[in-house]
This record gives sequence, C-alpha cells and structure tokens, in this order.
Amino acid sequence: MGYKSIAIDGPSGAGKSTLAKLLAEKLGFLYMDTGAIYRTVGLYAFQRGVDPTDEQAVTALLKDIGIEICHGEDGLQRMLLNGTDVTEEIRQNEISRYASGVSAIPEVRAFLLDIQRKLAQEHHIIMDGRDIGTVVLPQADLKIFLTADCEARARRRYEELLQRGQTVEFETVRSEMLQRDEKDEKRAAAPLCKAEDAILADTTGNSLEESFERLLEIVREHLTV
Ligand code: DC
Repeated sequence: MGYKSIAIDGPSGAGKSTLAKLLAEKLGFLYMDTGAIYRTVGLYAFQRGVDPTDEQAVTALLKDIGIEICHGEDGLQRMLLNGTDVTEEIRQNEISRYASGVSAIPEVRAFLLDIQRKLAQEHHIIMDGRDIGTVVLPQADLKIFLTADCEARARRRYEELLQRGQTVEFETVRSEMLQRDEKDEKRAAAPLCKAEDAILADTTGNSLEESFERLLEIVREHLTV
C-alpha cells in the first residue's frame, strides 16, 4: 500500500506548522516541519561563525553535519545536530536569517532532499515548507498553499517569539520577515511558490479554529483517507 502525503507550502507566519500539526493529529499522519532542517544547517553555520550566504564555506561544512529527525511519543518532531538535541535552539530569531541564507544554496537543498523524501516513503505524512509541492513531493496526494496578508503573518510571528520568551520589537520582526520572504521567493534554487495544482488557502482574519476547519474542508473534498 502506498503512503499518502499532503504538502503545505507558504510564507512564514501563515500558520503552516500549527495547522499542519493539528491536521496530522486529526488524520493520524506523521508531521514533518522541513523548515526545522534548514534551521539546523543554519544553526551549524552560526556556531561555526560562517556567513550563511557564503556558498563555498557553507557547502564545505556539509560533510561535518549529521542531521537526525526524531518523532517522540507525542508525535512531535525533534532535531538532532551531530547527536545534540537542538529543537529549541533553532527557534532563536537570529537563526531564521541563517536558515533562509543557507536554504538558497543548491548544495544544501540537495543534501537535505533525501532526508525529506525518505520519511514520505515510510509514513502517511504532512510536510510543510516552501518547495514541498513543487520539488520535494511533486506527486503529493494533496497540495495546499497557505498564506495571509503580511500584517497578519508578522503579528503571528511576533507573538510566537514573545511566547518563547524572546525580546523583540514588532517592527523589526515585520521587516525581517518581509526580507526573508522576498529572498525565499526570489532565489534561483527551489523558490517559494505555489505549485500549479495546489489549493490556495488564505488565513487572513481567521481564528485558528476557522483556518483549521477550512483545511479539513479541503482535505475532505480532495483526499480519500
Ligand atoms: O519555515 P521556517 O521559517 O522554519 O523556515 C526557515 C527557512 O528555511 C525559510 O526562510 C526558508 C527555508 N526553507 C526552505 O527553503 N525550504 C523549505 N522547504 C522549508 C524552509
């Protein structure tokens, strides 16, 4: 029996990870946050004092990076970097910029492709990211492109960082987020874009419950589980 896969792509702050997690729970699928893998490579560049946009230097680091993705009893994903659990550390605001920087490097993307595809061969999976429907799982059973206007996305991201106890200014979060999205959309390697056959869901102005209902509706309409 083949495994089902749902690809959820979109810019930051659209609610991808929260909604994908809830959906995975509801459907009994495994949830995979692919941004966390790029963040793990970004963290390593940060730890080694390497400029994340320096293609040669970052590529040279890849041979020293061992990444493992574990799913605990609670179904939540944990990231190991060379044996150390870095799940919390990769959420630092500074690491977002590093993740976006390294993610524009084709060698980094190629290095991470197999890890992502392998899990989809072994589980029913919901994967969220930027290029899941276009590159990682172009044959996904269902593709959703999740977005919201930039004020709403910046507000969510800001509140998420505050909840994690980080000290940030709303305006800084907003402008950094916009810069990062622009880079993710304009890069040559697997840019953030909606797959032709993806269904667009805009969460602007929706509560979490409303957005979740909308996703369930899309799943019921387009996927037999
Ligand atoms: O989803 P996130 O904010 O944790 O992702 C961090 C960065 O990783 C994001 O700026 C772009 C990159 N990324 C990517 O290029 N491709 C993916 N599938 C997921 C994330």
